[in-house]
Amino acid sequence: MRAKIVAGNWKMNKTLEEANTLTSEISGMVADEVRGDVKVVLCAPFPYLLPVKKLIGDQTRIVVGAQNCSEHEAGAYTGEVSAPMLASMHIPYVILGHSERRQYFGEGGALLAKKVDVALKHNLTPIYCCGEPLEVRERNEHEALVKKQVEESLFHLDAETIKKIVIAYEPVWAIGTGKTASAQQAQDMHAVIRKHLAGKYGQAIADSISILYGGSVNAANAKELFACADVDGGLVGGVSLKSREFVEVIKSI
Ligand code: PGA
Repeated sequence: MRAKIVAGNWKMNKTLEEANTLTSEISGMVADEVRGDVKVVLCAPFPYLLPVKKLIGDQTRIVVGAQNCSEHEAGAYTGEVSAPMLASMHIPYVILGHSERRQYFGEGGALLAKKVDVALKHNLTPIYCCGEPLEVRERNEHEALVKKQVEESLFHLDAETIKKIVIAYEPVWAIGTGKTASAQQAQDMHAVIRKHLAGKYGQAIADSISILYGGSVNAANAKELFACADVDGGLVGGVSLKSREFVEVIKSI
């Protein structure tokens, strides 16, 4: 059984007070309304990780995640946050390779492989993002690109280690645009990713890895997306900033 996960990616949004309110609302509604075995990950900005974690308290269904970490473990890297720092705060998840990091901060496959390694070394679970820009899909090269993104940052891992990864497929053209991939498009790509993992690591390991879909997930489309055989949850941006709708997304799994 693969873990079912709904992760909220707050990106660079909210003041501390707003983050506290959002967390309390989500936490309360999840406790009252969410049944089953879904894990909720709140990927808050770095300064809010501890306050958010504190507010969640002993609510075991919700955990906190970071949105990035450095490839270095420590040193003179002004402004960066390391995996050992996150581990020391008991933050269990970290998003790596989000398309905004790739696009605005020039992060690519080799760098992301290092980030994956340092995160795993410190027992953080990477949520490794992949996905194609619109022009790549229009050229019908999306499957090749996503396979390459998975290969170049994950395929150096051994079979025991790859099991610790969560993958998020996020077509760039669907992020923050209101344009969701159809359930069929999501399922097709998730199946391609899983088959690629199976080719390298075997079917049993591929079947154990959670693959999340991200890109304009909302309360209206989540059910259909999450019903797909190879979609194990979502990475949710805009809607994760609205407590009521985010909880509806969680309940759609
Ligand atoms: P979105 O963002 O849900 O606002 O499209 C998803 C993401 O970037 O993770």
